[in-house]
Amino acid sequence: MDILVIGGGGREHAVIKSLKKSKRCGKIYCLPGNGGIAADAECFPVKATDIGGIVAFAKEHRVDFAVVTPDDPLVLGCVDALEEIGVPCFGPNRDAAILEGSKVFSKNLMLKYGIPTAAAREFDDPMSAIGYLKTCDFPVVIKADGLALGKGVVIAATFEEAQCAVTDMMLSKVFGESGSRILIEEFLTGPEVSVLSFTDGKTVVPMVSSMDHKRAFDGDEGPNTGGMGTVAPNPYYTPEIAERCMREIFLPTVRAMASEGRPFCGCLYFGLMLTPKGPKVIEYNCRFGDPETQVVLPLLESDLLEIMLAVRNGSLTPDMVRFSSGACCCVVLASKGYPKKYETGFEIEIPRTERGEQIFIAGAKRADGKLYTSGGRVLGAVATADTLKNAVENAYRLARRIRFENAVMRSDIGARALRARDE
Ligand code: AMP
Ligand code: GLY
Repeated sequence: MDILVIGGGGREHAVIKSLKKSKRCGKIYCLPGNGGIAADAECFPVKATDIGGIVAFAKEHRVDFAVVTPDDPLVLGCVDALEEIGVPCFGPNRDAAILEGSKVFSKNLMLKYGIPTAAAREFDDPMSAIGYLKTCDFPVVIKADGLALGKGVVIAATFEEAQCAVTDMMLSKVFGESGSRILIEEFLTGPEVSVLSFTDGKTVVPMVSSMDHKRAFDGDEGPNTGGMGTVAPNPYYTPEIAERCMREIFLPTVRAMASEGRPFCGCLYFGLMLTPKGPKVIEYNCRFGDPETQVVLPLLESDLLEIMLAVRNGSLTPDMVRFSSGACCCVVLASKGYPKKYETGFEIEIPRTERGEQIFIAGAKRADGKLYTSGGRVLGAVATADTLKNAVENAYRLARRIRFENAVMRSDIGARALRARDE
């Protein structure tokens, strides 16, 4: 089968490497891909949001299956457009992708179906939002309704900060129309867990849990980023909590979407917080997480393509999805200055990888047979091992063998997870 993958980051590289292990995998095309993905797939410069361009490409190359991974094409209806021309897809249609596309929609869904989440109020007028803030205890969490490149969440410690966030989102429109509606939400505490799951709209099969490291600097300091590293499994996510999440969150969400006439097929990402009152949903994503995917898929022992086809065809069963009992760590190498201003164009020296090591490229371009940095997050150094401690050590050993000018990385990916056992 010839497969089309939409997107061009480390997550897509991990998906492609995993798909290539399938016996039924033929050619892989990636739009737009990147200089590193080009070693594993044929990349063409069609933007992930250019739905017309993607449809034309799929027709011309007669692809047999498409995997749509990023949020924006999903929310724009890329799956609907491809299915309409007869290309079966892995990924939710537009009606289901709203679970990530509108935080107001997902909050109302959770309230309607009794799925545990932070209490919240919705506002479409800045004056009433600010009036409400005067009655709040702080911190509060302010969220833009729509997609905002992962930046639409502000944790405001004081009334002044909260007022500023409301003004930025609703009046200055820093996230465009995404901020026309906002949620003001109760601040929750507890360890965070990411759980990706496969679902065909009826059956939901969780993947191995993981932990993201969103802040730029060691000790969870500095600005939020797209993710500086991940580990799997997440030690806070015990079998008892997993069972409770299945009963109280995963199944109710999949059933709720089906009842609303929006059955969700694809990868459904649960961003959870394990609060003193039990696990609660912080956010849903309608896709594989980045960089969670870079640690989850290397632990998948079953055939990703077969799972994706079963998800598309409504025939998913739990026995199709098997994970190794080991652990995995991804250390992101970024360009100095990220997530703010940074320079690019530096040559990347990629070492030979050994068994259990992989490098997923996120922001690099290829010129004269060499790789050069082209983005904020450049790549992920990934290692699997029998224990989390070994996976973390091996990922750092690999990361230190990769060289480019202005490379930065956190030095404590996995440290909190390793400490968790002693808590
Ligand atoms: P999101 O962009 O939805 O992933 O949110 C970014 C981060 O904000 C999450 O990973 C949490 O750390 C934090 N966050 C979001 N909602 C809440 C909440 N209600 N209480 C505490 N922290 C939150
Ligand atoms: N790592 C979080 C996300 O993909 O949104």
